[in-house]
Amino acid sequence: MNVNLAKAVLCSALLAWPAWLSAEIVNISTPESSLVLDATPGQKLRLMHFGAPVNASEISNLTPGVDVYPAYGIYPEREAALSITHSDGSMVTDLNVKSVTESTDKDGASIKTITLADTKYPLTVDVNYRTYPGQDIIETWTEIRNGEKSPVTLNRFMSASLPVRMGNVWLSSLYGTWANEARVEQRPLAHGVTMIKNKDGARNSHTAHAEVMFSLDGQPAENSGRVIGAALEYSGNYKLFVDTDDSDWHRFFAGINEENSAYRLAKGESFVTPPLALTYSTEGLSGASRNFHKWGRKYRLHDGDKPRKILLNSWEGVYFDIDEPGMQRMMQDIADMGGELFVMDDGWFGDRYQRNTDNAALGDWTVDTRKLPHGIDGLIEAADKAGVKFGIWIEPEMTNTTSRLYETHPEYVIKAPGRTPTQGRGGTQLVLDMANPKVQDIVFNVVDTLMTKYPRIDYIKWDANAPIMDHGSQYLAADKQSHLYIDWHKGLQKTLDRIREKHPDVTIQACASGGGRANWGFLPWFDEFWTSDNNDALQRIYMQWGTSYFFPAIAMASHVSAAPNHQTFRRIPIKFRTDVAMSGRMGLELQPQKMTEEERTVCKNAIADYKKIRPIVQLGDLYRLLSPYDRKGVASLMYVTPQKDDAVFFWWKTETFMNQQLPRIPMAGLDPDATYTVTELNRIDNEPLDFEGKAFTGRYLMDQGLEIPLTHRVDYDKNTDYASRILRLTRK
Ligand code: DGJ
Repeated sequence: MNVNLAKAVLCSALLAWPAWLSAEIVNISTPESSLVLDATPGQKLRLMHFGAPVNASEISNLTPGVDVYPAYGIYPEREAALSITHSDGSMVTDLNVKSVTESTDKDGASIKTITLADTKYPLTVDVNYRTYPGQDIIETWTEIRNGEKSPVTLNRFMSASLPVRMGNVWLSSLYGTWANEARVEQRPLAHGVTMIKNKDGARNSHTAHAEVMFSLDGQPAENSGRVIGAALEYSGNYKLFVDTDDSDWHRFFAGINEENSAYRLAKGESFVTPPLALTYSTEGLSGASRNFHKWGRKYRLHDGDKPRKILLNSWEGVYFDIDEPGMQRMMQDIADMGGELFVMDDGWFGDRYQRNTDNAALGDWTVDTRKLPHGIDGLIEAADKAGVKFGIWIEPEMTNTTSRLYETHPEYVIKAPGRTPTQGRGGTQLVLDMANPKVQDIVFNVVDTLMTKYPRIDYIKWDANAPIMDHGSQYLAADKQSHLYIDWHKGLQKTLDRIREKHPDVTIQACASGGGRANWGFLPWFDEFWTSDNNDALQRIYMQWGTSYFFPAIAMASHVSAAPNHQTFRRIPIKFRTDVAMSGRMGLELQPQKMTEEERTVCKNAIADYKKIRPIVQLGDLYRLLSPYDRKGVASLMYVTPQKDDAVFFWWKTETFMNQQLPRIPMAGLDPDATYTVTELNRIDNEPLDFEGKAFTGRYLMDQGLEIPLTHRVDYDKNTDYASRILRLTRK
């Protein structure tokens, strides 16, 4: 060893010694997890542990692992969470811990902030961790502050990175497309990069989802094994990726998609990244889902503790053919079946341009009195008479070239300089520029005017049927065009804040060509999301299974549609269609006038039974039992109240073959020592099931399950190739 090298080694040992003595350990703990960090001032912020809770003496024995917010520049071959071009053009950022502080927010959540400072520039990054009383969720996000003399450019600005120790780690994620959203995909993590991303601009969950689960003990299981779940709470473009390099770690990164979004921060400005919600469970994928659901209902979802109404939506019943008698008939029909709300979908507005199809009038939110001579007031009166509430459809972030709005304000749309804007749905749809405060006012006014004029509107379906189709803001300056995607969402969020401040009570659904807005980043302002434009009950089992990984049933709108179904043309019996809808936020989306008497009767009974189990489904704990993706011919899940005194078990046959052998399904989540009486709901059989009214212990039900017959006991000509069951289990 040469002298200089020996000096360097000695020096670094000496430097390391006092730092080790004064090591600052930060333990972020929830009831069932701990995230432990080494936050020693002057050192990198390192992960020591993320998993089951650890005690104080274990913590002192842990060794620091990997940098949790790596910045680009030194050893640049590694993936970084942050990459900055500094005011002097330097590409190197080197962050060390400066301080640790603690605070409490308005929800009583506690926040630990570790401030990192660059070793050369006056630039700091706050790495925040928030925990909520009694919840197994840790949210993490950053705030980047430019203290330099002139602007810096953020080239990458992830919310978080989380090193996951290599082993037999599997990734579960959701993929899909329009009308086939939230399909589950599971694969072992291999070397290289696995990336999940979105670049739609306006919606972000049709093709992929900003949430993942890591199963740490090999192939994912629903009710066993260690799982880390991660959900990015953001409404815009995102990027989640796992880099498995030559180290012992899968490095997981999640945040805003930085592609074409370099963000300039002026002197003194700061940038806050969206939170990443992390959870850890030793109860498999279902356990991680329950953690997300419980936390989300209490702290994220708008009015997450209020059971939702059973509704009829007019879309698949009449599409654009809206008229007053038709709407009134639908209100009466849903009321007769026991429903509580009627929602008039697209087609009710437009004066100079009529909304008879999808090519006109978005932006002109005036009632089309040719279709509705007594306006919204007339409809609300009719709803009153029928005994249901009234809801309405809007798509406020959009316009058509054929609209008064566009004719008077062409400067309000997304458009690249010197180019004709690309036109979407109907050949005429354009996206408004939400970065522009004047557009924010327009969108605010759409809701505010409706709610002020008609305060008895109970529900709004807020749709969004186009992506950002041109990279161009007519509002942002030339040197800020790369801010478009981010500022568009900042503008949307500001508008939603104003809306909710003034109109906290109206129920609002986030719809976006079906399931394009199922993300926790939308849900603080929305009560639910439209899961998919595909209402085929069989395909819904698959889509709702995936959606339930991260989102609770109360937020997952699930409607009974017509047979044949309008998307797949499959003819599914009404019993099966209602049994699927009853596992989410139940509603109807068909023309009741075209239903058979039998369909009406089954629907009426189903609605009556759904009212009994609504609190269990919408507010209970979900246990997924057998996945449709396992292709065993059946799928099953159940909901259990937190007190474990009431539960509802769903069983749907997904394939039919003669003499097929289906597995018997052990239940989960019950109290082993309690005794439960079994009652079948939404029954169509002539005779009760063998175990109807009988009692079993939770232990037996979770060990053996119940033998479910493969077919229904109905009159011969009523037999179909579908079978499904809903069983209620009530503690004696
Ligand atoms: C797309 C939505 O997903 C549908 O439910 C319906 O509201 C249409 N838009 C209306 O145009």
